Amino acid sequence: MIERIKNLLTEVDALNAANEEELEALRLKYLSKKGLVNQLMADFRNVPAEMKREVGMRINEAKTALQDRFNQLKAELATTEEDHSDLDLTRTPYPVMVGTRHPLSIVKQEIVDIFSRLGFSLADGPEVEDDWHVYGSMNFAEDHPARDMQDTFFVETHPDIILRSHTSSVQSRVMEKQQPPIRVICPGRVYRNEAISARAHCFFHQVEGLYIDKDVSFTDLKQVLLTFAREMFGPDTKIRLRPSYFPFTEPSAEMDISCNICGGEGCSFCKHTGWVEILGCGMVDPNVLEANGIDSTIYKGYAFGMGIERITNLKYQVKDLRMFSENDVRFLDEFMAAN
Ligand code: DAH
Repeated sequence: MIERIKNLLTEVDALNAANEEELEALRLKYLSKKGLVNQLMADFRNVPAEMKREVGMRINEAKTALQDRFNQLKAELATTEEDHSDLDLTRTPYPVMVGTRHPLSIVKQEIVDIFSRLGFSLADGPEVEDDWHVYGSMNFAEDHPARDMQDTFFVETHPDIILRSHTSSVQSRVMEKQQPPIRVICPGRVYRNEAISARAHCFFHQVEGLYIDKDVSFTDLKQVLLTFAREMFGPDTKIRLRPSYFPFTEPSAEMDISCNICGGEGCSFCKHTGWVEILGCGMVDPNVLEANGIDSTIYKGYAFGMGIERITNLKYQVKDLRMFSENDVRFLDEFMAAN
Protein backbone atom coordinates (compact mmCIF):
# COMPACT_ATOMS: atom_id res chain seq x y z
CA MET A 1 0.00 0.00 0.00
CA ILE A 2 2.77 2.41 0.96
CA GLU A 3 4.50 1.51 -2.27
CA ARG A 4 1.37 2.44 -4.27
CA ILE A 5 1.17 5.80 -2.55
CA LYS A 6 4.86 6.50 -3.15
CA ASN A 7 4.43 5.74 -6.86
CA LEU A 8 1.48 8.03 -7.02
CA LEU A 9 3.48 10.86 -5.41
CA THR A 10 6.29 10.50 -7.95
CA GLU A 11 3.74 10.89 -10.75
CA VAL A 12 2.37 14.16 -9.42
CA ASP A 13 5.08 16.53 -10.63
CA ALA A 14 5.09 15.02 -14.10
CA LEU A 15 1.35 15.57 -14.59
CA ASN A 16 0.48 17.94 -17.39
CA ALA A 17 -2.54 19.19 -19.26
CA ALA A 18 -2.40 21.02 -22.58
CA ASN A 19 -6.11 21.81 -22.63
CA GLU A 20 -9.40 21.51 -20.74
CA GLU A 21 -10.01 17.92 -21.89
CA GLU A 22 -6.66 16.67 -20.67
CA LEU A 23 -7.23 18.44 -17.38
CA GLU A 24 -10.61 16.75 -17.02
CA ALA A 25 -9.01 13.39 -17.78
CA LEU A 26 -6.56 13.97 -14.96
CA ARG A 27 -9.36 14.84 -12.60
CA LEU A 28 -11.25 11.68 -13.53
CA LYS A 29 -8.17 9.52 -13.12
CA TYR A 30 -7.05 10.83 -9.76
CA LEU A 31 -9.60 12.96 -7.99
CA SER A 32 -13.06 11.83 -9.03
CA LYS A 33 -15.28 9.44 -7.07
CA LYS A 34 -13.76 6.43 -8.77
CA GLY A 35 -10.32 7.98 -9.03
CA LEU A 36 -7.08 6.61 -7.59
CA VAL A 37 -7.25 8.63 -4.40
CA ASN A 38 -10.67 7.29 -3.53
CA GLN A 39 -9.54 3.76 -4.34
CA LEU A 40 -6.73 4.19 -1.82
CA MET A 41 -9.28 5.41 0.69
CA ALA A 42 -11.39 2.34 0.06
CA ASP A 43 -8.41 0.01 0.50
CA PHE A 44 -7.51 1.77 3.72
CA ARG A 45 -10.07 -0.46 5.47
CA ASN A 46 -7.79 -3.47 4.97
CA VAL A 47 -4.66 -1.85 6.35
CA PRO A 48 -3.55 -3.54 9.61
CA ALA A 49 -4.28 -1.43 12.69
CA GLU A 50 -0.64 -0.71 13.55
CA MET A 51 -0.04 0.71 10.03
CA LYS A 52 -3.19 2.81 9.85
CA ARG A 53 -1.58 5.97 11.23
CA GLU A 54 1.25 6.09 8.73
CA VAL A 55 -0.80 5.01 5.73
CA GLY A 56 -3.51 7.52 6.58
CA MET A 57 -0.97 10.33 6.69
CA ARG A 58 0.53 9.33 3.36
CA ILE A 59 -2.83 9.10 1.65
CA ASN A 60 -3.61 12.63 2.81
CA GLU A 61 -0.22 13.80 1.60
CA ALA A 62 -0.82 12.33 -1.85
CA LYS A 63 -4.32 13.74 -2.02
CA THR A 64 -3.15 17.29 -1.19
CA ALA A 65 -0.28 17.09 -3.64
CA LEU A 66 -2.62 15.95 -6.42
CA GLN A 67 -5.19 18.62 -5.59
CA ASP A 68 -2.49 21.34 -5.57
CA ARG A 69 -1.04 20.19 -8.87
CA PHE A 70 -4.52 20.05 -10.40
CA ASN A 71 -5.30 23.63 -9.26
CA GLN A 72 -1.96 24.82 -10.54
CA LEU A 73 -2.56 23.31 -13.98
CA LYS A 74 -6.05 24.77 -14.03
CA ALA A 75 -4.72 28.26 -13.25
CA GLU A 76 -2.03 27.96 -15.92
CA LEU A 77 -4.60 26.93 -18.50
CA ALA A 78 -6.83 29.86 -17.60
CA THR A 79 -4.04 32.36 -18.28
CA THR A 80 -2.60 30.71 -21.36
CA GLU A 81 -6.00 30.22 -22.91
CA GLU A 82 -6.98 33.91 -22.71
CA ASP A 83 -7.12 35.27 -26.23
CA HIS A 84 -5.93 38.84 -26.66
CA SER A 85 -6.06 38.96 -30.44
CA ASP A 86 -9.21 41.07 -30.57
CA LEU A 87 -7.86 43.75 -28.20
CA ASP A 88 -7.66 47.18 -29.85
CA LEU A 89 -4.45 48.57 -28.45
CA THR A 90 -4.87 51.89 -30.28
CA ARG A 91 -8.13 52.76 -28.53
CA THR A 92 -7.98 55.67 -26.04
CA PRO A 93 -8.09 54.45 -22.45
CA TYR A 94 -11.16 54.85 -20.26
CA PRO A 95 -11.20 58.39 -18.86
CA VAL A 96 -9.85 58.30 -15.32
CA MET A 97 -12.26 60.06 -12.95
CA VAL A 98 -10.17 62.74 -11.32
CA GLY A 99 -11.58 64.96 -8.57
CA THR A 100 -12.16 68.66 -8.94
CA ARG A 101 -11.09 71.45 -6.66
CA HIS A 102 -13.84 72.77 -4.43
CA PRO A 103 -15.44 75.98 -5.78
CA LEU A 104 -14.44 77.85 -2.63
CA SER A 105 -10.83 76.75 -3.12
CA ILE A 106 -10.92 77.85 -6.74
CA VAL A 107 -12.22 81.31 -5.82
CA LYS A 108 -9.92 81.64 -2.82
CA GLN A 109 -6.95 80.90 -5.06
CA GLU A 110 -8.14 83.45 -7.58
CA ILE A 111 -8.41 86.13 -4.87
CA VAL A 112 -4.97 85.23 -3.48
CA ASP A 113 -3.46 85.30 -6.99
CA ILE A 114 -4.83 88.77 -7.71
CA PHE A 115 -3.47 90.21 -4.48
CA SER A 116 -0.15 88.38 -4.91
CA ARG A 117 0.30 90.21 -8.18
CA LEU A 118 -0.26 93.46 -6.23
CA GLY A 119 2.55 92.56 -3.82
CA PHE A 120 0.62 90.95 -0.95
CA SER A 121 2.05 87.86 0.70
CA LEU A 122 0.15 85.08 2.48
CA ALA A 123 -0.37 84.97 6.23
CA ASP A 124 -2.49 82.81 8.50
CA GLY A 125 -3.46 82.27 12.10
CA PRO A 126 -5.30 79.70 14.22
CA GLU A 127 -9.04 79.02 13.95
CA VAL A 128 -9.22 78.35 17.69
CA GLU A 129 -8.22 81.76 19.02
CA ASP A 130 -8.21 83.79 22.18
CA ASP A 131 -10.45 86.75 22.88
CA TRP A 132 -7.52 89.17 22.61
CA HIS A 133 -6.65 88.40 18.97
CA VAL A 134 -10.25 88.23 17.76
CA TYR A 135 -11.71 91.17 19.71
CA GLY A 136 -9.44 92.89 22.28
CA SER A 137 -6.58 93.83 19.95
CA MET A 138 -9.09 94.74 17.24
CA ASN A 139 -10.55 97.57 19.33
CA PHE A 140 -13.82 95.88 20.26
CA ALA A 141 -15.23 97.38 23.46
CA GLU A 142 -15.76 94.95 26.35
CA ASP A 143 -19.51 95.08 25.82
CA HIS A 144 -19.50 94.93 22.01
CA PRO A 145 -22.43 92.76 20.89
CA ALA A 146 -20.24 90.62 18.55
CA ARG A 147 -18.62 89.15 21.68
CA ASP A 148 -22.00 87.85 22.74
CA MET A 149 -22.74 84.13 22.94
CA GLN A 150 -25.24 84.71 20.16
CA ASP A 151 -22.42 85.27 17.68
CA THR A 152 -19.34 83.63 19.08
CA PHE A 153 -18.63 79.96 19.74
CA PHE A 154 -16.84 79.51 23.05
CA VAL A 155 -14.64 76.58 23.93
CA GLU A 156 -16.52 75.41 27.00
CA THR A 157 -13.67 74.82 29.37
CA HIS A 158 -12.01 78.18 28.60
CA PRO A 159 -14.15 81.32 28.58
CA ASP A 160 -11.24 83.10 26.91
CA ILE A 161 -10.78 80.61 24.06
CA ILE A 162 -13.14 80.93 21.11
CA LEU A 163 -13.52 79.96 17.48
CA ARG A 164 -12.54 83.03 15.48
CA SER A 165 -15.57 84.86 14.10
CA HIS A 166 -13.55 86.78 11.51
CA THR A 167 -10.11 86.62 9.90
CA SER A 168 -9.31 90.09 11.26
CA SER A 169 -7.62 88.18 14.11
CA VAL A 170 -4.82 87.36 11.66
CA GLN A 171 -4.09 91.11 11.37
CA SER A 172 -3.15 91.06 15.02
CA ARG A 173 -1.15 87.81 14.64
CA VAL A 174 0.92 89.42 11.87
CA MET A 175 1.45 92.80 13.58
CA GLU A 176 2.68 91.27 16.81
CA LYS A 177 5.41 89.43 14.91
CA GLN A 178 6.39 91.97 12.31
CA GLN A 179 6.98 95.71 11.99
CA PRO A 180 5.86 97.62 8.87
CA PRO A 181 5.95 97.58 5.96
CA ILE A 182 3.28 94.88 6.15
CA ARG A 183 1.30 93.76 3.14
CA VAL A 184 -0.55 90.50 3.71
CA ILE A 185 -3.57 88.58 2.50
CA CYS A 186 -5.08 86.05 4.91
CA PRO A 187 -7.65 83.51 3.72
CA GLY A 188 -9.29 81.21 6.25
CA ARG A 189 -12.34 79.66 7.86
CA VAL A 190 -14.42 81.51 10.44
CA TYR A 191 -17.25 80.44 12.75
CA ARG A 192 -20.42 82.13 13.94
CA ASN A 193 -23.26 80.87 16.04
CA GLU A 194 -25.91 81.11 13.33
CA ALA A 195 -28.79 78.80 12.48
CA ILE A 196 -27.96 76.99 9.24
CA SER A 197 -30.09 78.03 6.26
CA ALA A 198 -29.71 78.77 2.56
CA ARG A 199 -28.33 82.21 3.45
CA ALA A 200 -26.36 81.64 6.65
CA HIS A 201 -24.02 79.00 8.01
CA CYS A 202 -22.20 78.41 11.28
CA PHE A 203 -18.90 78.37 9.40
CA PHE A 204 -17.79 80.14 6.27
CA HIS A 205 -14.63 81.61 4.73
CA GLN A 206 -13.10 85.04 4.58
CA VAL A 207 -10.10 86.76 3.12
CA GLU A 208 -8.51 89.54 5.12
CA GLY A 209 -6.14 92.11 3.66
CA LEU A 210 -3.80 94.41 5.58
CA TYR A 211 -1.35 97.03 4.40
CA ILE A 212 0.70 99.14 6.80
CA ASP A 213 3.44 101.57 5.85
CA LYS A 214 4.44 105.20 6.30
CA ASP A 215 2.29 106.93 3.69
CA VAL A 216 -0.83 104.93 3.15
CA SER A 217 -4.01 106.70 2.15
CA PHE A 218 -7.63 105.88 1.53
CA THR A 219 -6.94 106.49 -2.17
CA ASP A 220 -4.46 103.59 -2.17
CA LEU A 221 -7.13 101.37 -0.64
CA LYS A 222 -9.69 102.42 -3.22
CA GLN A 223 -7.32 101.81 -6.13
CA VAL A 224 -6.34 98.35 -4.90
CA LEU A 225 -9.99 97.38 -4.42
CA LEU A 226 -10.96 98.68 -7.85
CA THR A 227 -8.16 96.66 -9.43
CA PHE A 228 -9.30 93.60 -7.51
CA ALA A 229 -12.95 94.04 -8.57
CA ARG A 230 -12.01 94.39 -12.23
CA GLU A 231 -9.66 91.40 -12.18
CA MET A 232 -12.25 89.28 -10.42
CA PHE A 233 -15.46 90.31 -12.18
CA GLY A 234 -14.31 91.80 -15.47
CA PRO A 235 -12.90 95.13 -16.73
CA ASP A 236 -16.28 96.91 -16.87
CA THR A 237 -16.98 96.39 -13.17
CA LYS A 238 -17.66 99.56 -11.19
CA ILE A 239 -17.24 99.99 -7.46
CA ARG A 240 -18.79 102.30 -4.90
CA LEU A 241 -17.86 102.85 -1.27
CA ARG A 242 -20.51 103.56 1.36
CA PRO A 243 -19.58 104.91 4.82
CA SER A 244 -19.89 102.23 7.49
CA TYR A 245 -18.61 101.29 10.91
CA PHE A 246 -16.14 98.67 12.13
CA PRO A 247 -14.34 98.89 15.49
CA PHE A 248 -10.95 98.27 13.86
CA THR A 249 -11.08 100.84 11.05
CA GLU A 250 -11.66 104.59 10.99
CA PRO A 251 -13.01 105.74 8.63
CA SER A 252 -14.76 102.54 7.55
CA ALA A 253 -16.64 101.67 4.40
CA GLU A 254 -18.52 98.89 2.69
CA MET A 255 -17.82 98.30 -0.96
CA ASP A 256 -20.40 97.43 -3.59
CA ILE A 257 -19.70 96.34 -7.13
CA SER A 258 -22.01 96.86 -10.08
CA CYS A 259 -24.16 93.72 -10.21
CA ASN A 260 -22.37 91.34 -12.54
CA ILE A 261 -25.52 89.32 -13.12
CA CYS A 262 -27.61 92.09 -14.69
CA GLY A 263 -24.70 94.41 -15.47
CA GLY A 264 -26.18 97.11 -13.23
CA GLU A 265 -29.61 97.14 -14.87
CA GLY A 266 -31.34 95.80 -11.77
CA CYS A 267 -32.37 92.18 -11.08
CA SER A 268 -33.59 90.08 -8.21
CA PHE A 269 -30.03 89.21 -7.16
CA CYS A 270 -29.15 92.89 -6.56
CA LYS A 271 -32.69 93.63 -5.31
CA HIS A 272 -33.10 95.90 -8.32
CA THR A 273 -30.47 98.35 -7.12
CA GLY A 274 -27.81 97.43 -9.68
CA TRP A 275 -25.23 97.07 -6.86
CA VAL A 276 -24.12 94.21 -4.59
CA GLU A 277 -22.07 94.49 -1.43
CA ILE A 278 -18.87 92.44 -1.41
CA LEU A 279 -16.60 93.62 1.39
CA GLY A 280 -15.85 95.82 4.37
CA CYS A 281 -12.77 98.03 4.55
CA GLY A 282 -11.21 101.14 6.03
CA MET A 283 -8.11 102.82 7.44
CA VAL A 284 -6.68 100.82 10.35
CA ASP A 285 -7.75 102.52 13.59
CA PRO A 286 -4.69 103.95 15.43
CA ASN A 287 -5.89 102.09 18.55
CA VAL A 288 -5.39 98.81 16.66
CA LEU A 289 -1.86 99.76 15.63
CA GLU A 290 -0.96 100.72 19.21
CA ALA A 291 -2.58 97.61 20.73
CA ASN A 292 -0.39 95.49 18.44
CA GLY A 293 2.89 97.30 19.11
CA ILE A 294 3.05 99.58 16.06
CA ASP A 295 3.69 103.30 16.45
CA SER A 296 0.60 105.06 15.08
CA THR A 297 2.39 108.43 14.84
CA ILE A 298 4.71 106.95 12.20
CA TYR A 299 2.59 104.32 10.46
CA LYS A 300 -0.82 104.15 8.84
CA GLY A 301 -2.62 101.33 7.16
CA TYR A 302 -5.70 100.07 5.43
CA ALA A 303 -7.54 96.80 5.84
CA PHE A 304 -10.34 94.95 4.14
CA GLY A 305 -12.25 91.73 4.60
CA MET A 306 -14.53 89.76 2.32
CA GLY A 307 -16.54 86.53 2.39
CA ILE A 308 -15.36 83.89 -0.09
CA GLU A 309 -18.84 82.32 -0.28
CA ARG A 310 -20.26 85.70 -1.27
CA ILE A 311 -17.72 86.19 -4.08
CA THR A 312 -18.30 82.59 -5.24
CA ASN A 313 -22.08 83.13 -5.29
CA LEU A 314 -21.60 86.19 -7.44
CA LYS A 315 -19.32 84.37 -9.86
CA TYR A 316 -21.26 81.11 -10.05
CA GLN A 317 -24.75 81.96 -8.77
CA VAL A 318 -24.86 79.29 -6.11
CA LYS A 319 -28.22 79.89 -4.47
CA ASP A 320 -27.88 77.83 -1.32
CA LEU A 321 -24.88 78.18 1.02
CA ARG A 322 -25.35 74.65 2.29
CA MET A 323 -24.23 73.26 -1.07
CA PHE A 324 -20.66 74.26 -0.21
CA SER A 325 -20.41 71.88 2.72
CA GLU A 326 -22.58 68.94 1.66
CA ASN A 327 -19.97 67.32 -0.60
CA ASP A 328 -22.49 66.37 -3.29
CA VAL A 329 -20.28 65.26 -6.18
CA ARG A 330 -22.88 66.37 -8.72
CA PHE A 331 -22.51 69.92 -7.43
CA LEU A 332 -18.71 69.70 -7.21
CA ASP A 333 -18.44 68.26 -10.74
CA GLU A 334 -20.07 71.40 -12.11
CA PHE A 335 -16.81 73.21 -11.40
CA MET A 336 -14.73 70.81 -13.48
CA ALA A 337 -14.22 73.42 -16.20
CA ALA A 338 -13.11 76.10 -13.74
CA ASN A 339 -10.31 73.90 -12.40
N1 DAH B 1 -14.10 91.50 9.98
C1 DAH B 1 -15.24 92.04 9.25
C2 DAH B 1 -16.37 91.02 9.29
O1 DAH B 1 -16.15 89.90 9.61
C3 DAH B 1 -14.87 92.31 7.82
C4 DAH B 1 -13.92 93.46 7.71
C5 DAH B 1 -14.42 94.74 7.60
C6 DAH B 1 -12.56 93.27 7.71
C7 DAH B 1 -13.58 95.83 7.48
C8 DAH B 1 -11.70 94.34 7.61
C9 DAH B 1 -12.23 95.64 7.50
O2 DAH B 1 -10.38 94.22 7.61
O3 DAH B 1 -11.38 96.70 7.39
O4 DAH B 1 -17.47 91.37 9.01
